[in-house]
Amino acid sequence: MLSGKQIVLIISGGIAAYKSLDLIRRLKERGARVIPIMTAGAQEFITPLAVGALSAETVFTSLFDRQAEHDVGHIRLARDHDMIVVAPATANLMAKMAHGIADDLATAVLLATDKPVLAAPAMNPKMWQNPATLRNFEQLKERGIRFVGPSSGEMAEKGEAGTGRMSEPLEIVAAAKAVLRDEDIRQNRLPLAGKHVVITSGPTHEPIDPVRYIANRSSGKQGHALAAAAYEAGARVTLVSGPVELPDPDNVDVVQVESAAEMLRAVEAALPADIAIMAAAVADWRVASEGAQKIKKDGNGKPPVLSLVENPDILATVGHHERLRPKLLIGFAAETQNLIDNARSKLKRKKADWIIANDVSPETGIMGGDANTVRLVSGTGVEDWPQMDKTEVAREIIARAADALKKYR
Ligand code: CTP
Repeated sequence: MLSGKQIVLIISGGIAAYKSLDLIRRLKERGARVIPIMTAGAQEFITPLAVGALSAETVFTSLFDRQAEHDVGHIRLARDHDMIVVAPATANLMAKMAHGIADDLATAVLLATDKPVLAAPAMNPKMWQNPATLRNFEQLKERGIRFVGPSSGEMAEKGEAGTGRMSEPLEIVAAAKAVLRDEDIRQNRLPLAGKHVVITSGPTHEPIDPVRYIANRSSGKQGHALAAAAYEAGARVTLVSGPVELPDPDNVDVVQVESAAEMLRAVEAALPADIAIMAAAVADWRVASEGAQKIKKDGNGKPPVLSLVENPDILATVGHHERLRPKLLIGFAAETQNLIDNARSKLKRKKADWIIANDVSPETGIMGGDANTVRLVSGTGVEDWPQMDKTEVAREIIARAADALKKYR
């Protein structure tokens, strides 16, 4: 979503400007080009040298820059990009934006742009609550300016707290993604716009007693990557996830569950969906009756006997739903032998449209690793895919799913 995008970052003069240095890093890590503009006030808090070094770009500071203005630089700056992020947006800058004042480079670019603008306000709580600021805020929102924050908490000024803190860099990144995605949807560029995709991810934990559980080595990386890819393709995404150590993907509805029974309930509650992808490594069995107390050693060296019962099969349950079966239902098959035969039988038994089969023998390093080698098994045949990053596998599956869905329109 951010990869290859050009983002003009306007930094205005507030103490939160120091967080903009981190924001530059975060945006660049995700493949965006960041073109910085600093107001005079911003340069009192952080230096153009630091901003230039982190962005690896020329930092624009002046409206009348001889080098840049031979081709009306501020107009070009206002056009040649995908969006503008204003972080921090001070009360003063918001006031100028609201009134169309263009007395420096930042405000001239904001007045001249026809691209989406996202602002992250940062100011003292009293300034934020001032009716003048609130009116400017409402007016800018009405004009289509998007906002992230401000959030509440301690302020830089000693003993002051309230609403006015700038959102954290990663929240601003998530908001920037949402703005760019909305623009892509508006321009009809995303294949899954208006579609709902439900995805399961991670392991499940099946309780034995209050302190112990049965689990597996699934990291959730593939399922979470699928959720991010479906979001990027324009879908509304519900991610039902077992316990994982991964951050929630941006702008996705995440339902956290522990056991297979909870996962099934959450998936059924999330339906209807156009596409469902079951990437979770659901535990096949749970303990027949969970101990209410911690199971103790009996002192004679005799281990307890755990009796297991089979868990509901989520993929098969959804596959056999008469009313709520999604148009496209995709499962995974984690195998250590007879990959294709096992995948084919799962395809039939669970009434899935595709099974993404992978060999999870320990020597492949797939379980928990970043790469995946998969085969797409469908009613019409088997396709071998080359080894790819889990993110690339996710994008490919989503692109294929979007194509397949067209048939149902
Ligand atoms: N699956 C599920 N609910 C279960 C078990 C599996 O939804 N209780 C889904 C998985 O998310 C995956 C597919 O079924 O999409 C295949 O999972 P896998 O563990 O490979 O297959 P199992 O049916 O558990 O078969 P086995 O363990 O015998 O190989």
